[in-house]
Amino acid sequence: MGIQIAPSILSADFVNLEKDIAAVSDADWLHVDVMDGHFVPNLTIGLPVVERIAQISPIPIDAHLMIEDPDRWAPQYAEAGAASVTFHIEAAFAPIRLARELRGLGARAGIAIRPATPIEPLIEHLAEFDMVVVMTVEPGFGGQSFIESTLPKIRALRKAVTKTGGEIWVQADGGVTADNIAEVVGAGADVLVAGSAIYGKDNPGAEVGVLRERAKGAHHG
Ligand code: DX5
Ligand code: ZN
Repeated sequence: MGIQIAPSILSADFVNLEKDIAAVSDADWLHVDVMDGHFVPNLTIGLPVVERIAQISPIPIDAHLMIEDPDRWAPQYAEAGAASVTFHIEAAFAPIRLARELRGLGARAGIAIRPATPIEPLIEHLAEFDMVVVMTVEPGFGGQSFIESTLPKIRALRKAVTKTGGEIWVQADGGVTADNIAEVVGAGADVLVAGSAIYGKDNPGAEVGVLRERAKGAHHG
């Protein structure tokens, strides 16, 4: 897998979702932010809406659950049709058991860490997950600025993932723009979420192409 772009519909028009989703059909994943008003101070959409989105989306759903008690709720998102389900390590009671359950349901299992959460406890268990999501803003809202101090974490994760082997993706979520995407990819991220950078433009579909092109300018190392 090369670089993958995942537009976040958090910055889309929630009254015209089908149109806004169709606009980014050239992207790799549709990033759907689920917030419960407890794990983060914002509330978005839940299961019934995600289920309908999964039915009409031309690209697979990357569900990002910013919720308490993912052990209870996350499997239902896999059953609702999300091809990838990410939950937060800070919220999960038994992250490995949950990841195994998600995989058992046929979904990719993603684990997300907030900007201040260290990666060390995760390293020896990396093979249990299909993707690690480094939050590059504090989760909760779109349109925030990228937190530069998360870059060393992306670098360290990329090293650890390479050492582990297998295909584990490193996703960067929050504040990714055409101006910084090359730097983020250069640090080792291969799945890039972008909400406001895509839906803030008049032509979100074209912006997916712009981000892809800019990502190619990355220098690895
Ligand atoms: C933040 C969400 C992100 C957000 C990204 O809590 O998890 O997915 O939508 O939005 P931008 O790209 O605008 O930072
Ligand atoms: Zn997200």
